[in-house]
Amino acid sequence: MTGIEIRKVTAKIGARISGVDIAKPLDDEVVTALRAALDEHKALVFDDVDLDDEGQQAFARHFGDLTTAHPTVPAVDGAPNVLPVDSERGRAANNWHTDVTFVLNPPQASTLRSITIPPYGGETLIASSAAAYRDLPEPLRRLADTLWAEHTNDYDYAVPEEEVDETLAAHRAQFTSIKYRTVHPVVRVHPLTGERGLFIGGFAQRIAGLSVSESRKVLDLLQAYVVRPENVLRHRWSPNQLVLFDNRITQHYAIDNYDGLPRRLNRVTVAGDVPVGIEGKESHSIAGDASHYTSVA
Ligand SMILES: [Fe+2]
Repeated sequence: MTGIEIRKVTAKIGARISGVDIAKPLDDEVVTALRAALDEHKALVFDDVDLDDEGQQAFARHFGDLTTAHPTVPAVDGAPNVLPVDSERGRAANNWHTDVTFVLNPPQASTLRSITIPPYGGETLIASSAAAYRDLPEPLRRLADTLWAEHTNDYDYAVPEEEVDETLAAHRAQFTSIKYRTVHPVVRVHPLTGERGLFIGGFAQRIAGLSVSESRKVLDLLQAYVVRPENVLRHRWSPNQLVLFDNRITQHYAIDNYDGLPRRLNRVTVAGDVPVGIEGKESHSIAGDASHYTSVA
């Protein structure tokens, strides 16, 4: 008996976990139970956690090797595996994405810990791309099954010219200081559960074999199933919270609805495997070496 309690937040995604103190070292039985809960619910919410950066890294390490903070964005001072997700450093996460899919093996899981929460707004949306795949009508599912998409960190972010100030331009230059391009299956098979999910999101820019404008239409068509309200957890942050989500089979979105007030989360991610499509074929890299960022799980 692990004493862990799991309460679903919505039918398709999200569960609150209690009965375990994740600030303490966890035994294998507990980690196995949490992994099973993550497989099923995709996103786990832990309340009233007493963690610092070191503790967050130690917790994440139960699920595998950590990545460094980011392939191109610097870490928190003194904590090389912690990425500050800070409104002061731009609010570019207000688009639907899966973390770091432009590299060959994106993180398998992400942890976000609340540091500074605005008095209103600032929710994180997390969507189940498995539920999205199951929602596809048969003809679209058959189409998606055959597609591969190129993901890149270097694309037109479509920020209006007048909004590109020096800070934003500097962030952008840093973010794309190494240019990555990777081709992933549009339908990814989860290595632990065999579940299929739509593996697209904001870094997916082009469908192999299609023009840019054709790609956009197909991606938009599929993405509409990911962002269906029924497939989305809307997480309102409280102080001292940690959310663990499965980055292989979800997308997320940070809502920019807090009037530019301070908002800060610290992110620690767990190194992932190379994605595999339904016929067993693996993703392949076209450009960009990420070996300083991640090992392969
Ligand atoms: Fe993200």
